[in-house]
Amino acid sequence: MIEINDISVQFGGVKPIDGLTVKLTKPIVGLIGPNGAGKTTLLNVLSGFVEPKQGWVKVNDQLITGVPAHKRADFGLRRTFQTDQIAEDLTLLENVQAISDHVKFESREAETKAIMSAIDFVGLSHRIHRRGSDLSTEERHLAEIAKALIGNPKLVMLDEPGAGMSGAESEHLEKVIRGIPGYCKAQVFLIDHDVDLISACCNETMVLDFGKLLALGPTLEVLKKPEVQQAYLGNFDELEAAA
Ligand SMILES: Nc1ncnc2c1ncn2[C@@H]1O[C@H](COP(=O)(O)OP(=O)(O)OP(=O)(O)O)[C@@H](O)[C@H]1O
Ligand SMILES: [Mg+2]
Repeated sequence: MIEINDISVQFGGVKPIDGLTVKLTKPIVGLIGPNGAGKTTLLNVLSGFVEPKQGWVKVNDQLITGVPAHKRADFGLRRTFQTDQIAEDLTLLENVQAISDHVKFESREAETKAIMSAIDFVGLSHRIHRRGSDLSTEERHLAEIAKALIGNPKLVMLDEPGAGMSGAESEHLEKVIRGIPGYCKAQVFLIDHDVDLISACCNETMVLDFGKLLALGPTLEVLKKPEVQQAYLGNFDELEAAA
């Protein structure tokens, strides 16, 4: 469960999050909103990359505000980035193994098992020895998700994992995301502009607009709201189709 209480973020004259209070309880929660709405900034607050000007955040009843980013892995917080972090000259396996810098394992065997299991879960076992530079956009996103699933995560935050994917690739991604709570019991917080992906994966969805909560509720109900459609004017047809 994520509890966000009166969070504000200020970058000079820009206030990307403005007094946001919301409680997110469902296994897979969507976060949508127009470009610049504050989605990534909120994820940065949750993962500790941005300190809020005011307010607090709890994950599973633990206060995480003020905990440094590098310590949040100990709380089971994991994230992917809007721009993937795959190193071009390392193999997929080596890229995923890099998580060992942040996560402690009981033994080398436990580490290897967790890494191979996560790679298998996202469907990339056949690609482990390929270099980052040989991986497709889809494979890079999936490798990032695999990294985020290692070491008993409690909250997995995904920042636009569907960006740049084709229809068939999105279908596979959808299955992977929907499988995460069953795979490792983590809650998933999913940012994406692909409303089909959000509708297919998310039990509940929140909508941010100019750093404020525009809507929160069951995904299909939220997508039908006139104020949500209005905020997304450019994507109106897509939203209509999804709802
Ligand atoms: N480090 C920063 N310094 C200054 N301004 C920032 C910084 N990070 C984000 N912003 C600004 O905060 C606002 C929200 O940005 P954010 O990246 O959170 O939006 P977003 O909803 O993730 O958008 P997108 O859908 O394009 O990824 C934007 O106006 C952005 O320019
Ligand atoms: Mg963003």
